[in-house]
Amino acid sequence: MRAVVCREWGPVDQLVVEERPPAPLEPFDVRVAVSACGVNYVEGLMVQGLYQVKIPAPFTPGMELVGHIVEVGGGVTDRHVGQRVFANVGIGGYVSEAVVRADRCLALPESLTDGQAATFMQSYLTGWFALTRRVQTSPGQRMLVLGAGGGVGLAAVDIGVALGLDVYAAASTDDKRALAAERGASALIDSSTEDVKARARELGDGGVDLVYDPVGGELGERCLRALGDEGTYLVIGFVAGIPQLPANQILLRNRRVVGVEWGGWAGRHPRENDALVAEVLALIGDGRLHPVEPTTYPLEEAGRALADLAERRVAGKVALIP
Ligand SMILES: NC(=O)c1ccc[n+]([C@@H]2O[C@H](COP(=O)([O-])OP(=O)(O)OC[C@H]3O[C@@H](n4cnc5c(N)ncnc54)[C@H](OP(=O)(O)O)[C@@H]3O)[C@@H](O)[C@H]2O)c1
Repeated sequence: MRAVVCREWGPVDQLVVEERPPAPLEPFDVRVAVSACGVNYVEGLMVQGLYQVKIPAPFTPGMELVGHIVEVGGGVTDRHVGQRVFANVGIGGYVSEAVVRADRCLALPESLTDGQAATFMQSYLTGWFALTRRVQTSPGQRMLVLGAGGGVGLAAVDIGVALGLDVYAAASTDDKRALAAERGASALIDSSTEDVKARARELGDGGVDLVYDPVGGELGERCLRALGDEGTYLVIGFVAGIPQLPANQILLRNRRVVGVEWGGWAGRHPRENDALVAEVLALIGDGRLHPVEPTTYPLEEAGRALADLAERRVAGKVALIP
């Protein structure tokens, strides 16, 4: 089998692919021939040693994979050879073959391609957790989504529209905005040329009800001011830096700031997360949510994939194909 390896923390172009013997199979494991590995923004941070959780090198990055079971351990009763499964492995996902605990595998709707199946989970579960568990929304509310052509932002657009929200999508390029438009955003804001805060306020008749912010930095800070009375700013991510949100702007108009950390919550609440996953899969199954078909790279080009993502060259999601 082949594995992408980060031998030491540093630039993503230092990743290498190593040939390895197959890992041993324990009684409750399955062996998966991987067909697509999901790539997430944070994996680039992990490789550089810049993520909040420091993973000692050497390690294989990658949290999400999809493939077919080629072998089952003696204690496994509910999985079979040939079955297509998704696994959230936490780490070690950029591989051509994986040994995974059977109870960490999930069967997914056949309607999803391997690429979609390997890349939707983190983005959609974050969005669904944020918009159904961290806040309660009502149809017709107006939501500004920042980074709306990236993985997390695009999923939020899709989920917002499915919940009946009026979604304004801010993104820097035509192709990113086009993906948001395909998912039903009612207004598109060019974040590279327009004043996103002013435009959102104008669209929202003086202020929006929700700001969904996976970007942060200066843009996030400004967009707190796009909220109207009792509006809520959802803190999702910091690709452009941690925003410094002025408390006076939270006080004014009775605004709220709500933190969202899906991954940690899911680890601490596995049963509740299973329910969340089931809800998202049902909505995908009946065609109300539409995970994007990712841009793909060969496993050998993991470094290029992570660089393209970090440097904002990718619209939607990214997958590695072993
Ligand atoms: N809270 C949670 O539970 C949770 C879960 C998953 C991920 N996240 C976080 O969400 C964030 C976004 O993840 P993602 O998967 O959507 O990433 P992504 O696919 O790379 O998208 C991020 C988008 O942010 C925009 N952006 C603006 N300034 C940027 C900058 N300086 N560097 C890079 N991108 C910039 C880019 O859009 P434009 O070019 O249009 O500006 C890009 O498309 C990450 O910080 C991630 O850690 C949080």
